[in-house]
Amino acid sequence: MPRSDYSWIYPSQSDKAGDTGGTTAYRRLYHGIRSAILDGRLHPGERLPASRDLAKSLGISRNTVVTSFDLLTSEGYLETRVGAGSFVARALPDRDMQTGATAKDSHNTATKDRPLPLSQSAQRMLTYQRRFPRFRVARPFNPATPDLDGFPFDLWARLLRRSWRAPDIDLTIPDDPLGLPLLRTEIAKWLRQSRGVNCDTDQVMIVSGAQQALDLAARALVDPDDIIATEDPGYEGIRGVLAASGAVVQPVTVDEDGLDVDGLGKTPSPARIVVTTPSRNYPLGTTLSLARRLSLLQWARDNDAWIVEDDYDSDYRYDGPPLSSLQGLDTDNRVIYVGTFSRVLFPGIRLGYLVLPRALVPAFRGIRGFADGVPAPTTQAALGAFFAEGHFGSHVRKMRMQYGERRAHLMNLITDQASDILSVMPSDGGLHLCARSISDQDDIRMQEELVKAGLDCRALSSYFHRPRPGNEPSPVRGLVLGFAGWKKDVLSESFGELVRTIRRMS
Ligand SMILES: Cc1ncc(COP(=O)(O)O)c(C=O)c1O
Repeated sequence: MPRSDYSWIYPSQSDKAGDTGGTTAYRRLYHGIRSAILDGRLHPGERLPASRDLAKSLGISRNTVVTSFDLLTSEGYLETRVGAGSFVARALPDRDMQTGATAKDSHNTATKDRPLPLSQSAQRMLTYQRRFPRFRVARPFNPATPDLDGFPFDLWARLLRRSWRAPDIDLTIPDDPLGLPLLRTEIAKWLRQSRGVNCDTDQVMIVSGAQQALDLAARALVDPDDIIATEDPGYEGIRGVLAASGAVVQPVTVDEDGLDVDGLGKTPSPARIVVTTPSRNYPLGTTLSLARRLSLLQWARDNDAWIVEDDYDSDYRYDGPPLSSLQGLDTDNRVIYVGTFSRVLFPGIRLGYLVLPRALVPAFRGIRGFADGVPAPTTQAALGAFFAEGHFGSHVRKMRMQYGERRAHLMNLITDQASDILSVMPSDGGLHLCARSISDQDDIRMQEELVKAGLDCRALSSYFHRPRPGNEPSPVRGLVLGFAGWKKDVLSESFGELVRTIRRMS
């Protein structure tokens, strides 16, 4: 039964749970409810009062309450049941991590039965954590596995050895948090040629992957409570890292033309940053149309916002040359371009880069110095030589051909053996394809069964921001199927197993 007094849920401006002066009413209420859920004052499944009643008792507008409820619902703290109202979510992700939860390690008497004193930032980040099965050796259909047999590791080892044999001062005592000049120059050259990115060496910062690039961008550019717009569906790793900054992560729909730029006007206040994958949405593979690119840039100008362009795998496009970047169209220095070598080379290389508008370089350099210095300079030197001696270009050309064949093979398998179950969704590149379930089957169950069968398939619906309003199912159900890391015969055999497993389920 709802309680009668909720004034404690709406912290005054000076309360720690709320925020300091200037915080808008909906954010204060959002913070108040979120803190009460995290520290256990509001219980899982507890019904909140109707928005009208709560607004009246707190002396604020109903719109304020509705906006806070919407945000809390989109972040998974509340659930809406049609006709019944809003409830504290029963299954909050990572409940063990919340303030007030007890440590599980029964061997450690020092922490047993004591609340874990995690920061709000850690709790927010962990709310977004998702658990995919982890296999020691990559299994068929994992979407982020490139062909490791195709990478020239002998050559790579020689380049690494060479950088160790006569290490100069840049390798032994690196002093520029932007990274090694040789690698930065090669990356800038490659991006200008292959992606139309407008950049020079001095704008390139080497990082340990796209994930770290997003972390730095959030540290540099957002304050707690700012809104960061992300794509829905999108890459799960992004949301957690952005949420840790204290910003509110606001999902914006993606359709066949990419991010719905008009949807940016529907956030409670203008987003400070939009994180987008214009070349290829992850996982759907849709490309942001030119008209939308132009209106996104205009929107950023009008709202004094930043755009982070996450170009995580655009070297592999099979139906034409790689697409030009959004950054290349930007005349107002609002786009921060992010790239990674995780997919184009191999995930364990842990190298990526940012291309920064010049005005941001000093701040990012300073912040980076505090974060972790620089990634191992010897690996940077080896990658610089890999580029300079032409190996990067040849590797990409060779892999593009091979992946294109594997992709065509998987598409044929779907058409020949499973056209009554799955239909391939259009996309023109990357290391995976998406296949929609024709009968709208529960894809989370499909994933569970396929994992039991030894296949690393991901449910398409799990990439959508949850929960959806009114607990609607995600708009698309199906499977994300990586093809790049397996030879055609392995793909054929594994796909046979996939089809048998799904047919057994129905
Ligand atoms: C869309 C997207 N962005 C960013 C990343 C993170 O890349 P990295 O491994 O460089 O941190 C990934 C990784 O799979 C991704 O899919």
